[in-house]
Amino acid sequence: MSLHLSSPDPAARRHFLRFALATASVAWLPCGAFAQRRFAFDPFTLGVASGSPAADGMVLWTRLIAPGLIDSLGTDPVPVRWEVADDEGFARLAARGEALATPDLAFSVHAEVQGLAPDRWYFYRFIAGGVASPVGRTRTLPAPDAAVSRLRLAYASCQRWEHGYYGAYRHMREEGVDLVMFLGDYIYEYPNATAAVRNFPTLGLVTTLADYRDRHAMHRSDPLLQAMHAACPWILTWDDHEVQNDYAGVWPGDGRPLGLNNVANFQARRNAAYQAYYEHMPLRVTDFVRAAAGGSPVHEIKLARRYRYGRLANLVLLDSRQWRDAQVCGHPDHRSGMVDPAACASLDDPARTLLGPAQEQWFDGAMAQAGSGWTVIGQQTLFGRRDNQRGSGERVWNDGWDGYGAARRRLTDSLQRHRVRSPVFLGGDVHENWVGHVKADYARPDSTSVGVEFCGTSITSRSAHGATTAARLPENPHFIFAEGTRRGYGLCEFTPQGLSTTLRVLDDATRPDARIETLARFAVAPGRPVVEKA
Ligand SMILES: [Fe+2]
Repeated sequence: MSLHLSSPDPAARRHFLRFALATASVAWLPCGAFAQRRFAFDPFTLGVASGSPAADGMVLWTRLIAPGLIDSLGTDPVPVRWEVADDEGFARLAARGEALATPDLAFSVHAEVQGLAPDRWYFYRFIAGGVASPVGRTRTLPAPDAAVSRLRLAYASCQRWEHGYYGAYRHMREEGVDLVMFLGDYIYEYPNATAAVRNFPTLGLVTTLADYRDRHAMHRSDPLLQAMHAACPWILTWDDHEVQNDYAGVWPGDGRPLGLNNVANFQARRNAAYQAYYEHMPLRVTDFVRAAAGGSPVHEIKLARRYRYGRLANLVLLDSRQWRDAQVCGHPDHRSGMVDPAACASLDDPARTLLGPAQEQWFDGAMAQAGSGWTVIGQQTLFGRRDNQRGSGERVWNDGWDGYGAARRRLTDSLQRHRVRSPVFLGGDVHENWVGHVKADYARPDSTSVGVEFCGTSITSRSAHGATTAARLPENPHFIFAEGTRRGYGLCEFTPQGLSTTLRVLDDATRPDARIETLARFAVAPGRPVVEKA
């Protein structure tokens, strides 16, 4: 647990009280907990990050680690100071405080900053044991009622380590975006891939807390990923690979490709994965709800969240993994798979849910307050129906929204019921770019469009379909564009006058110095659910 503590210096103490006391948990600390410990090495080799932004603050993240990415800082908590400044030289401090990095949370720090001015860029750093961290740059959101002229947001997903290098982040950083929306598969739990582009000495199957910590630390050791985290706040949700391929709620998923499904206690594995995810992401302390005697037997993480970007945009992040019902009609062992919808009525069973009842209700409430700007719905995967079989007959993927048709319909009904003016779905998971229209009823091609959709390609993870991706477009006329050979990210520029989305792709994701190109650009007018290729 990270605790904010006041400094003994009276001026600093007043400063601290002004900015941080409201966030503090009340706790007793042993004498000497803040005795100075000196590091003879740099404990900040995992970099810094910020996220969970608000109009008056954000969460600042780091995790202290020993040289060689070894989790061996001992058993004593480490006090960590954090500073937020107007300037990169830290001459004008805007906030500061202290947190306690503890071994039970892998010496991670989640400092919740308050009291900052809205719609402003700031610099931040941590100091522990006489060593300062790299400097990060972050920003507050505009005030909820502010007239905002522009939001530049990058969306990204699926960064399997050994499938390539994070050259995409080098270019994303140069775009100068306000926010990154990361939509899942931050890590992969698999052992080393065949034909790995890059290796790590310990790339085995990830099942224990130590394994998940190591896998996250491996990713955070990448300098390009670190630099992008240090460039602006990220808002994140997850998909399956942060735990296990195609898991569903408390049910284990598919252990392919190596038949590694036989982890005896999936709930313990999920708990390990959830804890490590919290330890490595800029989430709020209250977002991690530990399993408790008499309470839930599993850890929970609150990822569904709404961010108001002034009057310009309403950003909604969904979690379609943690609370879902199990897949139906798929593989007898692991349930997921391609399914003929004509032979599986339960795909559309209204009793089944992808978000869980509480999140569906929360989403409906968020749509009731959507406002007049853009409503950007970040979720894990392709939202629209996709028939994957060319010619007659249909095959849909039961692990995505196509496996939960009635639940998808409840979301689109909510958009219609509340007359949400400009819904834009962003997704990931499929390792291909898909662009199209969100339909009120996917069973009827002529049904009204209620929004637009941009499902993004991966940062590095390979595509299963590659060059044949676009061959499925004629089966799915609500999509207007599909491409599966290129890795990269999407760039959305929202203004009151329109949305411009640019699909940015690498010439070669197996090289750290890959060049970036524009694959396609699309335009959407506010209040009109039509996406057009520019
Ligand atoms: Fe993925």
